[in-house]
Amino acid sequence: MTIDVAACRADTPACEGQAFLDNAGSALSPTAVTRTVIDYLKREQEVGGYAAMDEAQDRILAVNASAGELVGVPVDQVALQTSATAAWRRAFGSIPLRAGDRILTTRAEYASNVLPMLQASRRVGAIVEFIPDGPDGTVDPAALGAMLDERVRVVAITHAASQNGLIVDAAGIGAVLRESGSPAWYLLDACQSLGQLPVDMTAIGADFIAATGRKFLRGPRGTGFLAVSPRVLAELEPVPIDMFGAAWDGDQSYELSATASRYQSFETSYAAVLGLGAAIDYSLALGLHNIRERINGLATSLRAQLSELPGVRVLDRGAEQSGIVVFSCPGDDSWDAARELRAKAVTVTAVTRPTNPPDVDRYGASCVLRASPHVFNTDEDLAALVAAL
Ligand SMILES: Cc1ncc(COP(=O)(O)O)c(C=O)c1O
Repeated sequence: MTIDVAACRADTPACEGQAFLDNAGSALSPTAVTRTVIDYLKREQEVGGYAAMDEAQDRILAVNASAGELVGVPVDQVALQTSATAAWRRAFGSIPLRAGDRILTTRAEYASNVLPMLQASRRVGAIVEFIPDGPDGTVDPAALGAMLDERVRVVAITHAASQNGLIVDAAGIGAVLRESGSPAWYLLDACQSLGQLPVDMTAIGADFIAATGRKFLRGPRGTGFLAVSPRVLAELEPVPIDMFGAAWDGDQSYELSATASRYQSFETSYAAVLGLGAAIDYSLALGLHNIRERINGLATSLRAQLSELPGVRVLDRGAEQSGIVVFSCPGDDSWDAARELRAKAVTVTAVTRPTNPPDVDRYGASCVLRASPHVFNTDEDLAALVAAL
């Protein structure tokens, strides 16, 4: 099935009159998502937050189920979160680490994930090591295999990079871990891949998947989720726990929730949660393979057009590439350039050093931009970006 672009555009009225190409930043939501959020907020206004939540209990639980369906796991393995960072931190913080434990990651990793790893190194003496990558930036699963021993406790990988189009061979990494019998916990940041690529947690073999709502899933801000493996539920608990994830017995002990809800908290914006559910259901209805095909077609075409432009360098890496298109262009400041383009009704975003210093330093450019098309974008949108550049 191919995507009905006209229908997607009708579902996304804001895409008219502008070339919105920042779905890796914070996407345009379909109307169904925004309406769901507003309707629920109105209901809270009418009956109060607890009564509204009570009425919507089944719909709220269905959001966990939709998120599970998206990554191919049962509802019990999903905990709602407020961002990918929150999900990742909750996961990483639940892995006991001691001096000498090894944490393996890649140089393409998102900085907010690397920082807690470095902090664990400072605080408990864990050792952070980077898995070597090949010339195109893709981590070689065999290189990971050669690094494994019983001291490797964490393997943390970003599935689709933020700072270029790199897609990591997440399933290849999972296979190496499985075949080696490694006791490492496999933590996959799928923040930029969910909503644009099919992601099957079990086939990949990840123990944790961290996700955000507002990017390619097109949900509201302040949403995300964490999916965990059965092994996580058998062996780990988040630190610290709260009464949503565990029950105090009134004396000196407590009982953990049997499900991933041990990683979730009670208080959140349930309006945003329902909006996330609507966004996930929208993606599932379109079909992730169809979405991937459409986005990949647009991104491939954009890379070809940009590489023809004088003064522009396409910086994407990886044997397989996502819908994230990163390029340098003349200019002293990436944010200024993004603002100038927005004034011409073209929305892209700036790529700056804090996200990932190794890649951004390697680019050797003062102005780096990221365009990230989605299903509702058209060839005219790509042409508008090229013309505005
Ligand atoms: C690869 C990757 N991981 C994590 C994050 C953080 O996501 P959030 O802002 O939802 O915490 C981002 C945000 O851009 C990202 O690109």
